[in-house]
Amino acid sequence: MTPHTPEPTADAAPPILTVKDLVTTFDTDAGRLTAVDGVSFSVRRGRTLGLVGESGCGKSVTACSIMRLLPQPMGRIASGQILFDGQDLVTAPPEHMLKVRGGQIGMIFQEPMTALNPVHTIGRQLSEVFLLHRTRDRREALALSAGILAKVGIPSPEVRLGEYPHQLSGGMRQRVVIAMALACKPAVVIADEPTTALDVTIQAQILELMQSLQREMGMAILLITHDLGVIAEMCDDIVVMYAGRIAEAGPVEEIFAAPRHPYTRGLLDSIPRLSTPRKARLNTIEGMVPGLADMPTGCRYQNRCPWRADICASPPPEQVIVPAATAPGTTKAGPRDSRENPVAGTPCRESRAADSFLWPKALSPRHQQSTPATAGKNNPAHHPCRESVNGGAPHPAAARVACHRWQELPTYRRPDHPL
Ligand SMILES: Nc1ncnc2c1ncn2[C@@H]1O[C@H](COP(=O)(O)OP(=O)(O)O)[C@@H](O)[C@H]1O
Ligand code: SF4
Ligand SMILES: [Mg+2]
Repeated sequence: MTPHTPEPTADAAPPILTVKDLVTTFDTDAGRLTAVDGVSFSVRRGRTLGLVGESGCGKSVTACSIMRLLPQPMGRIASGQILFDGQDLVTAPPEHMLKVRGGQIGMIFQEPMTALNPVHTIGRQLSEVFLLHRTRDRREALALSAGILAKVGIPSPEVRLGEYPHQLSGGMRQRVVIAMALACKPAVVIADEPTTALDVTIQAQILELMQSLQREMGMAILLITHDLGVIAEMCDDIVVMYAGRIAEAGPVEEIFAAPRHPYTRGLLDSIPRLSTPRKARLNTIEGMVPGLADMPTGCRYQNRCPWRADICASPPPEQVIVPAATAPGTTKAGPRDSRENPVAGTPCRESRAADSFLWPKALSPRHQQSTPATAGKNNPAHHPCRESVNGGAPHPAAARVACHRWQELPTYRRPDHPL
């Protein structure tokens, strides 16, 4: 497989972080196992990219590879590039990574209790970040710490500085972790399941906080989650990972409107809906993600895929789906074979799907203003591909899919479709 990251189109924000063909391995008793296998994506300035997939599909290993925080000595980046601010972090010297971590790329971990040291006060832990990157003056570091605690909505920050993590609630602890990640105004924040350990109301508060801080500080966010509701609420782009590889990637509105990969379809169908009758069985994807030691050759989803065919015994190439606005020859992101642009000049597959698609309620207002789905429900002509055909705004980016049969699959209909 040769992953291929489309070049941004003219209206897209430029990438600040680009991961290219990343391969990360672990040396184990069972030999060298590949946890991340040829993953490529870009995180754009001021935007949020969601990395989604079931447990064990390589999301956290991808994040730890970017931060060069793989467990040693067994974890290593076997190949690929991680380009940040013009430098490849894979080959950057350790002292450069000390500056990058916390200073230029912040990280929010899933479980605040493991991210915070239980035997040090909040003030000591937070001021350490400032002492490392901003100032040598302890008093100034403490004042900056109080300032950032106030910014993340912690009341009486000066008092909290003297407290220990166990004296704070789970939501407050996660706010402290966010404060630590944002302390030095990083260009990129990696948030690995930042709300999974929190209850639902606190989850919403934390997500809102991240959104408002992003608006204020303009950082790019790489948001790792297994929750598609969070993706719909927060993200501009999405990368769906399965068993260490990318199954599908592209703009959120496009992937939600017309998922092409059977795994993405399965994930979307697994979301419980208000319209599901009580006591009805929830949809699930049968089976489990294969273990690293027994990955099938060919498509890694084949053991669970309802559309599996003989061709699936060979690995599917990653195909770039070029929107009508960027027909062959007009962009570097042009198709690599004739199947890849079935839509030039005509309404595309997702536009047709958008005609009758019900958009998730969780979708954020900024998406709702412009999505094909909301437009599609009442006026499908507003879908980007048709807009571009009609001379409207160009499509923000191409999508990618790694499935042999995506063009043969029936048009996707959500389970609660009225027809
Ligand atoms: N230290 C390690 N040694 C061996 N395998 C590991 C190690 N850390 C993670 N893995 C494996 O890498 C794969 C991806 O893990 P991870 O990235 O944590 O998944 P997730 O998508 O849930 O974040 C899993 O199969 C996991 O078992
Ligand atoms: S290549 Fe596509 S159709 Fe074949 S098993 Fe994989 S996901 Fe299913
Ligand atoms: Mg994880």
